[in-house]
Amino acid sequence: MKFDTLKGMKDTYFDDMAKYEYIINTAKEIFSKYSYDRVMTPILEETSLFKRAVGDETDVVSKEMYTFIDKGDRSVTLRPEGTAGVVRAYLNAGLHKSNPNVKWYYYGPMYRYEAPQKGRYREFHQVGIESLGIRTPLIDAEIIKMACEFLEKLGINDLVVEVNSLGNIDSRFRYIEELKKYLKVNFDGLSNDSKIRSDKNPLRVLDSKDENDQKILLNAPMLHDFFDEESNKYFEDLKYYLEKFEINYVVNQKLVRGLDYYSDTVFEVKSSKLGAQSTVLAGGRYDRLTEILADVKIPGIGFAAGIERLSLLIDDELIKKENKKIFVIYFEETKDYFINTLNTLRKHNINVEFEYAPKGFGTQMKKANKIDAKYVLILGEDEMKNNKLSIKNFEDGSQEILTIDEVIERIK
Ligand code: HAM
Repeated sequence: MKFDTLKGMKDTYFDDMAKYEYIINTAKEIFSKYSYDRVMTPILEETSLFKRAVGDETDVVSKEMYTFIDKGDRSVTLRPEGTAGVVRAYLNAGLHKSNPNVKWYYYGPMYRYEAPQKGRYREFHQVGIESLGIRTPLIDAEIIKMACEFLEKLGINDLVVEVNSLGNIDSRFRYIEELKKYLKVNFDGLSNDSKIRSDKNPLRVLDSKDENDQKILLNAPMLHDFFDEESNKYFEDLKYYLEKFEINYVVNQKLVRGLDYYSDTVFEVKSSKLGAQSTVLAGGRYDRLTEILADVKIPGIGFAAGIERLSLLIDDELIKKENKKIFVIYFEETKDYFINTLNTLRKHNINVEFEYAPKGFGTQMKKANKIDAKYVLILGEDEMKNNKLSIKNFEDGSQEILTIDEVIERIK
């Protein structure tokens, strides 16, 4: 019998697994430098959490959720994103009263029933951060800086950072009312998707790819014209700090994001190397979210990156360099000497690969090549007699005879 994975889901091993680990380790390194601690929340949550937080009318909630009734007759959903659960955890812990300023990062699987394509899966993984309790353009810019630093550390270049502001909660509300009126007047000319969105999720009409929609939108009211003084100042200050942090960015007034909880700052980092699914990392400010969920007012901002999309952009060579392998060649006659050496290397936390049933020198050398080893240690009879090891560096071709202590020093 043979079972396939479900459509849009995949197994991860070898090089892809190494990339996943590298992404997570890099995230931990960079995010903890900015004082973010790890948080873990359940993969399964009450369906109503996502309906309320992400918005009933968004594509994610209305079309893409994996929702089912559990044995206790409750409607539950595999999380389509991480922010709702993290904010729920913050509120459940009462942190808004005891310790409102929290900086958290997380990673794990997310589920969206979308049409799979390159960079788009039904089970995918995100690594993200959320910062609760602070509303200032300084932290918004700092977060974008942290995102850029993370991507740079992964060796991913040629990225475009797009930023926009949706205006504060009041401005956004006034604009949506005006936009709805305009879309109503032009309703007949809109695409079917935009017709559906025009009343329930009108901001999403702005990033429609449909040509006719685009023509209609040319005369639509402009989001930024509805900004009040505070919204304008917030956005100007954001740009000031982005420059202070030396971030290369472009303003994209059409950037509105697909989830309902955003206001003020929104941003996306895009790569031209990913085809249609070009957004690698995305996020924004969500000052209304705690109010929607629990009637308390706590500002928040965060982002998430798709780990599979990051993997597609990471250079394979970088991963090989990070995982320098060491292969040990030995023979039946030197087996005991090999096991003693193995014990010593492992005591020093050095990981080596070897054959359990060693064949000839040539066969073992081939294996070392196959795994792309950086060093090969050779334990022949001569080496055993002299209590030494031959070490061959595959990168520069050099070979030396050293004591075990010298080998450990060299490798480390
Ligand atoms: P999002 O834009 O829905 O935002 O997703 C963030 C990232 O997850 C995307 O830019 C993409 O890299 C990845 N992603 C989304 N869907 C898929 C998919 N089907 N397959 C592969 N990768 C995917 C959020 O999820 C927000 N929670 C981000 C956030 C955090 N905003 C504030 N805090």
